[in-house]
Amino acid sequence: MAVEIDPNFPYGLDRPRQARGAAGLGMALGVATLIVAILPGALYGPRGLLVLVLLLSCLVTFIVAAGLFRTSASKKVQAADRLLDGLDLRGDEQALDLGCGNGLLCAGLAVRLPRGHVTGVDAWVEHQLLPTGRAIAKRTLTLAGVKGVTVLTGSVRELPLGDDAVDLAVSRDTLSLLPSGAARAEAVAELARVVRPGGRVALLEPFGTAALARSLAEAGFTVVERSGRWWSVMPPHRLVTAQRPPDAA
Ligand SMILES: C[S@@+](CC[C@H](N)C(=O)[O-])C[C@H]1O[C@@H](n2cnc3c(N)ncnc32)[C@H](O)[C@@H]1O
Repeated sequence: MAVEIDPNFPYGLDRPRQARGAAGLGMALGVATLIVAILPGALYGPRGLLVLVLLLSCLVTFIVAAGLFRTSASKKVQAADRLLDGLDLRGDEQALDLGCGNGLLCAGLAVRLPRGHVTGVDAWVEHQLLPTGRAIAKRTLTLAGVKGVTVLTGSVRELPLGDDAVDLAVSRDTLSLLPSGAARAEAVAELARVVRPGGRVALLEPFGTAALARSLAEAGFTVVERSGRWWSVMPPHRLVTAQRPPDAA
């Protein structure tokens, strides 16, 4: 069955379970607030406090849900531009997007690398991005007017690329979705293998960025930097950048 690309979420809905779960929980909390508030009897003391707690929880949950949907609809596109604009690219780099999803960073890289090449790798995990699949990624890139991106099926823990294959590896909201620290360490080891000496990585992630920075340093990367939070996206992300030493074996 063909899965249509939703024009509101051209690069897919991230973390669909969490986004829909937060919206559902917000609604349930709203109904609970209403029920407790309209029950007969005085609205002060413990009952008044309960209404207040429910109301605040409802508001916070709706703010999180709205942030998650808004991130997928537009804010992640702006964050991708901010990430790529900050890299000061020459235009001829060989670039890799780990966990490329529907091609958000691939599309941004392709327009910035007219003399280079872009490869996206993804394992198409349905509960992390909707819709997902290699055909959908390729179609989204075609709809975005982008040509020449290689989209591969594979795991960031075992990249389908040769040693020293790329000048630059980027990623957004992928490494933090791996199931364990050991899995993230495997992905970092793969980065150290496929990024050529002197090449760079730029990883935009909402969680685990301190451990990610440590792991990159342990894998031999230098100039490891971790940004402050980017509050425009939900969950807020941090950018971790690093370089492989030019003389790395
Ligand atoms: C939240 S989505 C983000 C997609 C894309 N980076 C973006 O910014 O739109 C997370 C992506 O990571 C991919 N992913 C998760 N685990 C992976 C793995 N082990 N190897 C490759 N891709 C993986 C999922 O399939 C999904 O496309």
